[in-house]
Amino acid sequence: MQMFSVYVTGTDTGIGKTLASSGLLHALRGHGLRAIGMKPVASGCELREGQWRNADALALLAASTPKPAYADLNPYALPSPLAPELAAGDAGIEVSLQRLLDAHARLAAKADALVVEGVGGWAAPLSSTLMQADFVHALRIPVVLVVGMRLGCLNHALLSARAITADGVHLAGWIASHVDPGMERVQDNLRMLHDRLPAPCWGVLPHVNAPDPAQMAMRLRIPMLAE
Ligand SMILES: Nc1ncnc2c1ncn2[C@@H]1O[C@H](COP(=O)(O)OP(=O)(O)OP(=O)(O)O)[C@@H](O)[C@H]1O
Ligand SMILES: [Mg+2]
Repeated sequence: MQMFSVYVTGTDTGIGKTLASSGLLHALRGHGLRAIGMKPVASGCELREGQWRNADALALLAASTPKPAYADLNPYALPSPLAPELAAGDAGIEVSLQRLLDAHARLAAKADALVVEGVGGWAAPLSSTLMQADFVHALRIPVVLVVGMRLGCLNHALLSARAITADGVHLAGWIASHVDPGMERVQDNLRMLHDRLPAPCWGVLPHVNAPDPAQMAMRLRIPMLAE
């Protein structure tokens, strides 16, 4: 089987990318695949035993089998909780596309499937000269858009889909995550997303307290693996 790798972007920061990515890793494993996550660039880290560690990267590591080296899963662990360009500046480094591609290749050598979680929303830059679209182009992989279900999500979802397509990247699907338990008319909003987004829905993650990625996997259906 051809290597499965997908880039997970979202309508914004804090809307369920890590949850959806971890759920996808469990779903892929349910298809008998060795599935590894990647958080190429993470800003906001804690020191653990003298090493900078990011919560998203650790969540993806926990959902990955086999377990890769942390530095391959998360080649850039930037301490400051800022946009990557600023966080990298604080750390005195610049994000290099080649280093990201090398880490992705090392992960790919260990797995049948990779799930790469992006940074913030689609147009969040990785550096002053590197957009997420550049990385995804170089990898030649499709994108899945996580839509955080809250007021304003239609605008964010449709703009994101338009930008992804305009960047010449294939939008393979979208996943809704019910982040805001107070959102009204969720079903109507989901219908409007179904009607307007130019890609299939891979699943809807309900709102639950302390969501469990393995449970969320049961809500996901990856069209290219179906049947
Ligand atoms: N369906 C859901 N039900 C309950 N809580 C959710 C759901 N989706 C996301 N959350 C919660 O919302 C918060 C943000 O989710 P998550 O960390 O997955 O977002 P993200 O898009 O990866 O954020 P970042 O941009 O920081 O990477 C987390 O606390 C997560 O548990
Ligand atoms: Mg995240």
